[in-house]
Amino acid sequence: MADTKVYRATTTAPVNIAVVKYWGKRDPKLNLPTNSSLSVTLAQSDLRTLTTATCSAAYAGQGDSLLLNGEASDVSGARTQACFRALRERRAALEAADSSLPKLASLPLRIVTENNFPTAAGLASSAAGFAALVRAIADLYELPDTPSQLSLIARQGSGSACRSVFGGYVAWRMGEKEDGSDSLAEQVAPASAWPEMRAVVLVVSAAKKGVSSTSGMQQTVATSGLFQERIRTVVPDNMAKMEKAIAAQDFAAFAEVTMRDSNSFHATCADTYPPIFYMNDVSRAAVRAVESINAKAGRTVAAYTFDAGPNAVVYYLEKDADVVLGTFSNILGAGVDGWKGGVAPGTAQAADVDAT
Ligand code: DP6
Repeated sequence: MADTKVYRATTTAPVNIAVVKYWGKRDPKLNLPTNSSLSVTLAQSDLRTLTTATCSAAYAGQGDSLLLNGEASDVSGARTQACFRALRERRAALEAADSSLPKLASLPLRIVTENNFPTAAGLASSAAGFAALVRAIADLYELPDTPSQLSLIARQGSGSACRSVFGGYVAWRMGEKEDGSDSLAEQVAPASAWPEMRAVVLVVSAAKKGVSSTSGMQQTVATSGLFQERIRTVVPDNMAKMEKAIAAQDFAAFAEVTMRDSNSFHATCADTYPPIFYMNDVSRAAVRAVESINAKAGRTVAAYTFDAGPNAVVYYLEKDADVVLGTFSNILGAGVDGWKGGVAPGTAQAADVDAT
């Protein structure tokens, strides 16, 4: 009788928020970036994707399937297919080398995945999503690959996903090779190297973003002159300064690079033709709030950054939690379409940096 056993693996992957942004692809098919980037991985308990991968001969004839937050999602997209293919190839190689292994590579996959935060609202849902997908299938297939090797696969799902394979402070090295084999993530420091780091997410809007990262960055690459300067000088400089700031636990330097890089990224969006605006009036109020917190303290206690959406992420150190969270609820608490999704200040969204 055919083996109808159900093989299963469950994993979570956390959200990462870049402090030096990835924006631009030199190869859209392989998701090879025009610049290196660096992010901080948030704690799993706050913003994460939970994914279960199963496979079984009992699913024969049904094809692969993906349930995202309870709804059937398309698996035929090139990015999902690229991840499935790469993982199956690795499993098939193991099976070819050891005939006692169950033949899982050829079985249909069922993926069930849930986010505990708004999907596609500029909260890095694709990053956590593809990192969890790749990790769950790699666990299901019992692949011996290192996290950096898995980051090569996650990158093909969504560029920023390669960084969510690690906790702590993570760099995505852009690499040089045409096949993308050196465009991978590596941990520059574990969370324990700077355990006081915190992030608060101000959910300005949980709505889906207007221009997706994928198409926005393509338009920027094609039309912005400022972007050329960003990838040539601004980002390499910011990467070097950021790695130094993290190694020295220098929050003022970390904060300045974070804010400058966010501003530079959004300036290239504004320089895109036609222009792309991800930040709105509430986002700009958050920028002013951070400036006022820092001015009042007479030192840098907070740093803002914005991805491809209006939501603010503010980094700060645990010792300054009261002033940062207190000021945000006073200035922005009332009348904002936000603090949504169980992410009120001081509760769920005051995220630790992931410890893994
Ligand atoms: C602004 O990784 O979502 O968040 O590779 O096309 O899936 P694709 O793009 P994605 O872009 C993220 C852009 C960003 C900056 C960052 O996370 O570095």
